[in-house]
Amino acid sequence: MAGNRTLTIIKPDAFATGKAGNIIALLEKSGFKIIASRVMQLTQSQAGEFYEVHKERPFFGSLTKFMTSGKCMPIVLERDDAVAALRKTIGATDPAEAEAGTVRKLYAESKERNAIHASDSDENAAREARFFFAEADTL
Ligand code: CMP
Repeated sequence: MAGNRTLTIIKPDAFATGKAGNIIALLEKSGFKIIASRVMQLTQSQAGEFYEVHKERPFFGSLTKFMTSGKCMPIVLERDDAVAALRKTIGATDPAEAEAGTVRKLYAESKERNAIHASDSDENAAREARFFFAEADTL
């Protein structure tokens, strides 16, 4: 059965340009409840660990540089069918391909500076929630 929690990150491009409030409003309008949230700047080591799955990709260096360039906002979200619902709400990785009304269509700059992250499976949602919130399993 699909889980009811997922992890999002409002990325440095969107946070620095004051889009966090509008993005959170859109997430809440889409039925998500905020379970935990923080504002932080990732270290190079944290960004490398978080995106370890992409470490052989040509964009890995640029991605970790971008993700450490300013503050970001990890958030644990709750809703039925959370992982799939959030991915639909944020839209395609590349904003040029994202559907109208999605977070990335509205707020992303490019395929890399794409405003928001979303977990891609229940397993990764749980792992990513613990990555940012040590207390994630008790929330
Ligand atoms: P995210 O959903 O956080 O997962 C991996 C991230 O890598 C993705 O969002 C983008 O920020 C970035 N990314 C994925 N594909 C590319 C690409 N082709 N070029 C540059 N950045 C990318």
